[in-house]
Amino acid sequence: MEQLNFNNELSGKITLVTGGTKGTGRAIAERLLQAGATVIVTARNAPEKENSNMHFIPSDLSKAEDGQKLVSEVLSTYGRLDILINNLGSSVTPAGGFAALTDEDWESTLQANLLAPVRLDRGFLPQMIERKSGVIIHIASIQGKLPLYDSTLPYAASKAALINYSKSLSNEVTPKGVRVLTVSPGWINTTASKAWLGEIARNANSTVEEARQGVMDALGGIPFGRPAEPQEVAEFIGFLVSPRAAYLTGTNFVMDGGTVPTI
Ligand SMILES: NC(=O)c1ccc[n+]([C@@H]2O[C@H](COP(=O)([O-])OP(=O)(O)OC[C@H]3O[C@@H](n4cnc5c(N)ncnc54)[C@H](OP(=O)(O)O)[C@@H]3O)[C@@H](O)[C@H]2O)c1
Repeated sequence: MEQLNFNNELSGKITLVTGGTKGTGRAIAERLLQAGATVIVTARNAPEKENSNMHFIPSDLSKAEDGQKLVSEVLSTYGRLDILINNLGSSVTPAGGFAALTDEDWESTLQANLLAPVRLDRGFLPQMIERKSGVIIHIASIQGKLPLYDSTLPYAASKAALINYSKSLSNEVTPKGVRVLTVSPGWINTTASKAWLGEIARNANSTVEEARQGVMDALGGIPFGRPAEPQEVAEFIGFLVSPRAAYLTGTNFVMDGGTVPTI
C-alpha cells in the first residue's frame, strides 16, 4: 500500500459539493479544502461568508437545465471532476400525513433529493469511467429507513429511493473504477436546525432545551444524547473520499449517534 499523507491527501483532486454553502455541505467543502482539494460549491444563493478559495457556481438543481449547465461549466473549466458530493437535500413539504400532500409537494421533493443527484451522476460519470477513477457520495438520511409519516413523508421516501439507487449505481460502475457510497446521517446540528429548534420553542412557549429533547424523543431517542456536528459528518466524508477508503464502495453508512434502534 502506498504511503498516505493525511494532511494533503486530496491535493490535485477536483471536487464538487452540492448545497455546499451552508450547514453540512459547507463543513464538507471546508474539510475537502483542508485536505488540499480544489473545491467547487453550488447552491441557489451565493454563500453569506465568501471563501475565495472555493469556486461558487449558482444553480437550482431541482431544474434539469441547471444541472446540465453545472456539469458543462465544471468540465469546461477544470477538464474533469474527481469527487462528487451530492449533499443537497430538501424537506419543505407540509406536515399532516398523506392527505396534506399534493403532487407538487411530491415532485419538488423528488426533484431535489433524488433526480438532482441522478442527473449530476449521469453528467459526470462518463469522464470518470473513461479515466477509471472517481468517487461519488450520496447524502441520504436515517429517514430512508426510519420514516416520520406525519412530518416528512416525501422526504423519507425520496431518501429511501436514493439509498437504493446508490447501491445499484455502485454495482454498475465500481467494476469501471468509480466508487459510489451513501452516508445516512441522523439529526445534524446545523444553523438551520438551530433556527428550527428556536421556532419550535417559540411556538410551544417552551425552552430551546425542551424543544431539543422533544425532537430527540420524536426520533425514539439518540443514545449519544445530542445531534451530530456538521464537522463530524464532514470528517467522515473526508475519509470516505480519500485513498484511505480505497476498498469501500456500495455501502450505506449510517451516522446517527445510535438513533436507529435496529441493526
Ligand atoms: N440537518 C439534518 O438534521 C439532516 C439529517 C439527516 C440528513 N440530512 C441531509 O444532509 C444533507 C445536508 O443537509 P443540511 O441540513 O446540512 O442542509 P442545509 O443546511 O439546509 O443547506 C442546504 C444547502 O443546499 C442548498 N440548496 C437548497 N435547495 C437547493 C436547490 N434546489 N439547488 C441547489 N442548492 C440548493 C442551500 O443553499 P440555497 O438555499 O442558497 O440554495 C444550502 O447550501 C441533505 O441531503 C439532508 O437531507 C440532514
